[in-house]
Amino acid sequence: MATPTTQQLAQARQVIADAQRIVCLTGAGVSAESGVATFRDAQTGLWAKFDPLRLASQAGFAADPGLVWQWYMARLGTVEQAMPNHGHLALARLAALTPTFTLVTQNVDDLHERAGSQNVLHIHGRINHFHCNTCGTEHTLQPDERTSELPPTCLLCGGLVRPAVVWFGEALPGDVVEIAWREAERCDLMLVVGTSGVVYPVAQLPLVAQQAGAVVIDVNPECTPISEIADIFLQGSGGLILPALVGALSAGPKGHPGSGLSG
Ligand code: APR
Repeated sequence: MATPTTQQLAQARQVIADAQRIVCLTGAGVSAESGVATFRDAQTGLWAKFDPLRLASQAGFAADPGLVWQWYMARLGTVEQAMPNHGHLALARLAALTPTFTLVTQNVDDLHERAGSQNVLHIHGRINHFHCNTCGTEHTLQPDERTSELPPTCLLCGGLVRPAVVWFGEALPGDVVEIAWREAERCDLMLVVGTSGVVYPVAQLPLVAQQAGAVVIDVNPECTPISEIADIFLQGSGGLILPALVGALSAGPKGHPGSGLSG
């Protein structure tokens, strides 16, 4: 696997230092180094081991709600055991140093928040939030429900409770989509980390930003369709590359030629 050249890293650092408005789009890869499995990595990816339509769809939930519930409870356990990694921490720091920073994640885990990121936009939902699949009423998970064989039932309508994640074939949260697209059209920089770029409509966001004049930087150990269109492709892991990009930033005002970079 190629590693980024010094020149590529320097170029990316300068773009980051000069950017006033950044949108960061993350995928499962940013949480991989925290021990949370990705979806499509060969062998290790969830979809290499499990059938996504049996576990992450309305049809799958209707056919076997117990199987789906237990699978999500197991994943929730993994997420809760996991700790934010250097990639998550570097993004939280970059947000603090950038006048306008929008973090759009496809991840259902809360590792960005636990790293200190605020106002994280979860465009594919959250695994530690729950609601009724029938009436939508929010549900607070009770300790014994974690180990129950079947999903809990809604206290209001008796429907089945499910995790607040977006399943295949379901609509994305409208308010989040609106903000993500609006900020993508306004940003100076779209920083993409750890996504295979094959799930639409989110995979369109880097192109939306680029067509509106933004620079696209992609960080991924593998070359993806987003890496192909990126202005700067940094091949490698988020946990190594993001600290290398953000570490050099000083707390000074951004956007002044040559400033924002220390040492
Ligand atoms: N650092 C950065 N990227 C990494 C790392 C790492 N340490 N490890 C793996 N990756 C990359 C992989 O090379 C791959 O391109 O992360 C990407 C993960 O891709 P997917 O598993 O497809 O995850 P993602 O793109 O987030 O999936 C999108 O698909 O299944 C649905 O709803 C689910 O939100 C998910 C969506």
